[in-house]
Amino acid sequence: MRTPVIAGNWKLYKTTGEAVELVGNLAPLVKHARDVEIIVAPVFTVLGSVAKAVAGSNIRLAGQDCFWEEEGAYTGEVSPGMLRDAGCSHVIIGHSERRQYFGETDETVNRKIRAAIDGGLSVLFCIGETLEEREADKTFVILKKQLSGGLAGITREQLDSVIVAYEPVWAIGTGRTASDGQAQEAHSFIRETLSGLHGKETADRIRILYGGSVKPENIKGLMAQPDIDGALVGGASLKADSFAAIVNFAG
Ligand code: 13P
Repeated sequence: MRTPVIAGNWKLYKTTGEAVELVGNLAPLVKHARDVEIIVAPVFTVLGSVAKAVAGSNIRLAGQDCFWEEEGAYTGEVSPGMLRDAGCSHVIIGHSERRQYFGETDETVNRKIRAAIDGGLSVLFCIGETLEEREADKTFVILKKQLSGGLAGITREQLDSVIVAYEPVWAIGTGRTASDGQAQEAHSFIRETLSGLHGKETADRIRILYGGSVKPENIKGLMAQPDIDGALVGGASLKADSFAAIVNFAG
């Protein structure tokens, strides 16, 4: 019912040559992947080159962030329209690294999500609790706050352009994946919360991805969970063979 999404967040890695080489190696390894949407999110400066390299393939492109204004005196920012112009169909918004290091709040995340959807992009909207919050039993409170804040003012139709990525901060880059059960529990809570906000039918359509130390070895178990609809992959997306193995999880 929900087509799985496997997305690679390259973070601050890969120069132009390295990025083009990576997608060049990846494309033949995933060309037979059926019933899965494949997305990679390179740094802004290489988007144009990667867009050319993936043209005609089943690999789509995402920006790693965007600003909420389309243009203006905003030094250093990139707008939704500019991402589209560079070949992106998607954008990641609200990644925990942006919340942690660059002052993103639920409010800025919300403004960005609305602008991105208005600009014709699909959004990979990231949420997730820190270890401290999990240990204080605040996981659900945090997820609910991030969901309702990030999606404030978003209509039911607009929500069809949103993919939620649950990324527990303690599992990102640590090698410590959430167990299948822990991830499923959070995903089920997220779907229930979305159902409360926008109705069951809409919530049942939304893809919810898991992110945090996803590897070829743990993707199958995660994907077997009823509310896990894909993965947002960091480290393991930087190599063609490991990312392809994750994309081809069903094979
Ligand atoms: P890792 O897969 O390296 O843990 O990163 C996850 C992530 O932050 C994807 O956005």
